[in-house]
Amino acid sequence: RPAIMIYVDNWRWVTLFLLCLARSAPAKRIFRCPAECTCSKDSVICVGSSFIPRTVSNDINSLSIVNGTFPEIKEATFSLMPSLQLLLLNSNSLSVIKDDAFSGLPHLEYLFIEGNKIGTMNKSVFRGLRDLTHLSLANNNIKLLPKDLFSGLDSLIELDLRGNMFECDCQTKWLIDWLKRSNATVSDVYCNGPGEKKGLRLKDVPDQHAECITTDFVLHQTLSTQSMSAELFFYKEDIYMALAVPNSENCLVMEWDHIEINFRPLDTITGRSVVGCRAAVIHGQAYVIVTQLFDGSHVYRYDPKQNKYVKFQAVEASNISKPNDIEVFPIGDEWFFLVVDSSKAGLSTLYKWNETGFYPYQYLHEWFRDTDAEFVTMEGKPHLILASRSQVPVIYQWNKHSQKFVLHSEIPNYDDIVTVKTFQINGALHLAMACYIGDSKVVRWTGKQFEEVQAFPSRGAMVLQPFVFKEHQYLVLGSDYSFSQVYRYDEKKQEFSKFREVYVQWPRSFTALSTDRRDFLIATSFKGKTKVFEHIPVDSSL
Ligand SMILES: *[C@@H]1O[C@H](CO)[C@@H](O)[C@H](O)[C@H]1NC(C)=O
Ligand SMILES: *[C@@H]1O[C@H](CO)[C@@H](O)[C@H](O)[C@H]1NC(C)=O
Ligand SMILES: *[C@@H]1O[C@H](CO)[C@@H](O)[C@H](O)[C@H]1NC(C)=O
Ligand SMILES: *[C@@H]1O[C@H](CO)[C@@H](O)[C@H](O)[C@H]1NC(C)=O
Ligand SMILES: *[C@@H]1O[C@H](CO)[C@@H](O)[C@H](O)[C@H]1NC(C)=O
Repeated sequence: RPAIMIYVDNWRWVTLFLLCLARSAPAKRIFRCPAECTCSKDSVICVGSSFIPRTVSNDINSLSIVNGTFPEIKEATFSLMPSLQLLLLNSNSLSVIKDDAFSGLPHLEYLFIEGNKIGTMNKSVFRGLRDLTHLSLANNNIKLLPKDLFSGLDSLIELDLRGNMFECDCQTKWLIDWLKRSNATVSDVYCNGPGEKKGLRLKDVPDQHAECITTDFVLHQTLSTQSMSAELFFYKEDIYMALAVPNSENCLVMEWDHIEINFRPLDTITGRSVVGCRAAVIHGQAYVIVTQLFDGSHVYRYDPKQNKYVKFQAVEASNISKPNDIEVFPIGDEWFFLVVDSSKAGLSTLYKWNETGFYPYQYLHEWFRDTDAEFVTMEGKPHLILASRSQVPVIYQWNKHSQKFVLHSEIPNYDDIVTVKTFQINGALHLAMACYIGDSKVVRWTGKQFEEVQAFPSRGAMVLQPFVFKEHQYLVLGSDYSFSQVYRYDEKKQEFSKFREVYVQWPRSFTALSTDRRDFLIATSFKGKTKVFEHIPVDSSL
């Protein structure tokens, strides 16, 4: 017994002594060279080790571990070897290197992590290696590296990234840019993809700035009202929106709030079976034309004193039975609007403004169940394109002498079109024509006729709406049964490519608004809420 007690006491004494030493001087710890390693005074080499020895002498200046079987390097793994100048971790099974793995190594100059299974790493992995001159990550499976990975490595002279699987997409843009301006010598690294970039040297990848700045549509405001259409109008330097809200029998006028950056209600025009709602600003006066299934159509005029729209006129509508769309337009200094009638018994009717109101002016296109009209100037002359359920779209031309629209031609091969919208690409007139189920189409005016440009598979599409944001041409195809698809025009390919999806329940219209240096897309819904999306730039290289 006494012998054991003495032993214990001695052991305690030894421990205390060591602790004192450790505190007072940078110290001689006692360590045993692990079985897989060969140790000398200032270096350790381990082969086939299943762990990283932590307690080797803190004087060593080189540590090599090869053919090891450990999968990761944890934070501050080498902090007990502060004088390390060289660390070689080749041919281990490393796949994970944690942030700050090499912290506490201010003198490390050479770091080799070659022939492992590293796919990527976090950006603070090499934090604190301010003396590092040589770094090799050769022969791993690296596809991408995080931005600024090398930013604290102020002494770096040589970097080896050969034998990896770099994807030269937007996420590698920073590395490509860094390689172009870095002072370190970097052996040639090649792209593994994507597509035609495979085999290209990273340094030779052309500038990707444009392709890496993209945009997204983010929900900005939700209006708790269903609606069939949203029409923007500008009146006395303010922006307004007229929403047709059939289920609550009204036409809602909203005002854009430049401070709150959203729409707020201004006035509700109550009606009976309201189906359409369009604004017209004529000689400085704001009007709203409201079409209804019953009780005819009415024109309301804005009264600044009451700050609301008051009934101005009941328009003669005896030939209209199912109004579907209203198109308001000027020809010269005369104002017109057309009510498109979608019943077999009705007539699309053109109204003309005189001092006292709108009066029927011309009946168009009998018995054809019209769906939509678009007013457009073609070859310098006013035209109306009229789509219908039972016929291909027809084109009317304005006749100067008779002061009437005259049937001019048709757009063959496109039956059953629900909406027609015009837009320009590089100065050429295009039409976007929505087909409910089948293919919606974009056609281009050649100077003689319309020729097809592209088809868009449609699953319950009530609208194919073109719009322009920040010089990009977009098209959004509504869908009653899925996501609505946003397409963007690709100048190189000269066609629209799929860009984003937005979800709107039974979308009925999309309206673009650019104001306060921001871009918005208003989506009306027949069954759900009206949504305002903001179109925001996203740098996908970050
Ligand atoms: C490492 O392992 C490989 C294959 O298992 C073997 O060929 C090589 O000789 C080993 N290297 C060392 C230094 O033991
Ligand atoms: C990388 O960072 C993320 C987020 O900070 C963290 O969840 C993850 O565990 C880190 N991975 C490594 C290997 O350190
Ligand atoms: C490269 O070296 C030059 C000259 O010493 C220096 O001005 C420049 O900042 C260095 N570039 C980087 C990225 O360190
Ligand atoms: C349109 O309505 C007017 C007035 O009710 C009527 O006189 C005229 O015959 C109608 N026109 C057509 C083409 O039905
Ligand atoms: C406007 O047109 C209507 C119908 O044709 C007519 O009754 C009215 O007198 C006209 N008003 C003016 C000021 O021309």
